[in-house]
Amino acid sequence: MPNKTVTSLKQMKQRGEKIAVLTAYDASFAALQEAAGVDVMLVGDSLGMVIQGRDSTLPVAVTEMVYHTRCVERGRREALLVADMPFMSYSSANQALETAGRLMKDGGAQMVKLEGGATQLETVSQLTANGIPVCAHLGLLPQSVHQLGGYRVQGRDEESARLMREDAVALEEAGAQMLVLECVPADLAESIAKAISIPVIGIGAGVGCDGQVLVVYDMLGITPGAAPSFRKTTWIRQTL
Ligand code: KIV
Repeated sequence: MPNKTVTSLKQMKQRGEKIAVLTAYDASFAALQEAAGVDVMLVGDSLGMVIQGRDSTLPVAVTEMVYHTRCVERGRREALLVADMPFMSYSSANQALETAGRLMKDGGAQMVKLEGGATQLETVSQLTANGIPVCAHLGLLPQSVHQLGGYRVQGRDEESARLMREDAVALEEAGAQMLVLECVPADLAESIAKAISIPVIGIGAGVGCDGQVLVVYDMLGITPGAAPSFRKTTWIRQTL
């Protein structure tokens, strides 16, 4: 199988082929996911919760993200390797460049992911101008959990749905090459996927996106506590 790139993923979207994305945190899981044909491996800052046992993703450090990205890189061959920029590691464009540089040079990431819409446009365009592929993330933003007042569905009312659609378009214009939509009503997610040309990857966002991402421990049912309801209904298992 040829390497997955931002170009080949965009072509998958154009052909209507679904994109399978899983989180990975170590070399063994990365090798298993390669064998299963996963298109994109995301070293998510969800590792703060599922690996480190914390209450949220907020305490995760850049050094920890670099460490896990490097581990995944050793098990990965063809999937695109995306790493999350952790909370407070991209609060200015300059800081984002420094963090992304570490994730790519020391960790081997091929794309970085950041959370947020209108406030991140300058950062997305600076990263892009420096040759760093960016995956944006809208909807439920786990790094803003305290501001959002909990982990709940976003974009339910007309105004917030309109803002999310506008953010998605602006992020693509700023240079983002992929977009994650988390916990968004299915019809809104589908309309966003249709409105932009970059792949839109959903999690708890219905089946109308261009691909799906799951936290691998949730998919396997080994995360302690309540599993997200969408892990059973998603087609990602059938895709692999
Ligand atoms: O950190 C993570 O694993 C994520 C996914 C849930 C999209 O951002």
